[in-house]
Amino acid sequence: MLLIIENVLSKDEVQQFRSPMEQANWESGVKTAGSLARTAKQNLQLDDASEVAIGLRNHILRKLGNHPLFISAALPSKIYPPKFNCYTNGGSYGTHIDSAIMPVPGTSLTVRGDLSATLFLSEPDEYVGGQLEIEGIQGGEGIKLAAGDMVLYSSGFEHRVKPVTQGARFASFFWIESYVRDEKQRNILFELDKTIQQLTPKLPEGDKDLLKLTGLYHNLLRSWATT
Ligand code: NI
Repeated sequence: MLLIIENVLSKDEVQQFRSPMEQANWESGVKTAGSLARTAKQNLQLDDASEVAIGLRNHILRKLGNHPLFISAALPSKIYPPKFNCYTNGGSYGTHIDSAIMPVPGTSLTVRGDLSATLFLSEPDEYVGGQLEIEGIQGGEGIKLAAGDMVLYSSGFEHRVKPVTQGARFASFFWIESYVRDEKQRNILFELDKTIQQLTPKLPEGDKDLLKLTGLYHNLLRSWATT
């Protein structure tokens, strides 16, 4: 899956994020890279325990919790607390694959990375380079979205962030464990849900076939979901 979700944050919200982020303390991203990714990763990360990171990630989690398209596509059971990074001065992240199981700091919980997400917090014209390239599911020039937009993609693919040669690229990134682990099943449910949403305004309220289709969606989800 590769899905772009626009306006997860409004431009006003992005602005509210950016000022405290720009004034915060940033540390080397190498600290949190897995052993394989360590040499590939050249960026800065916001201290997860800082007040600014806590406030911003709670805001993102609230927005995602009320976002029908995100919920329909990801069927999230757990979301890793969003982290924040900044690529600048030639910073990049070479080709790597995200870890499968991630412990949530300060808890005994883990999140299985079924889906990866990057929420862009800089406008594309604020920096040069910085495209997210995902092997196998995305061709062309790489992903570089408007501030407030988010890309959601299957964690099983190799990906990289091209060097940022001018300006700074701020983003939030995190992983999602889905109730439906199998990607094919999850995609079928997503397509079915989209079809139901498209049919709903076209049919009279209480239409029996629509009711039946909705029931099929929930029964498929019931048999495929794990909790
Ligand atoms: Ni990654």
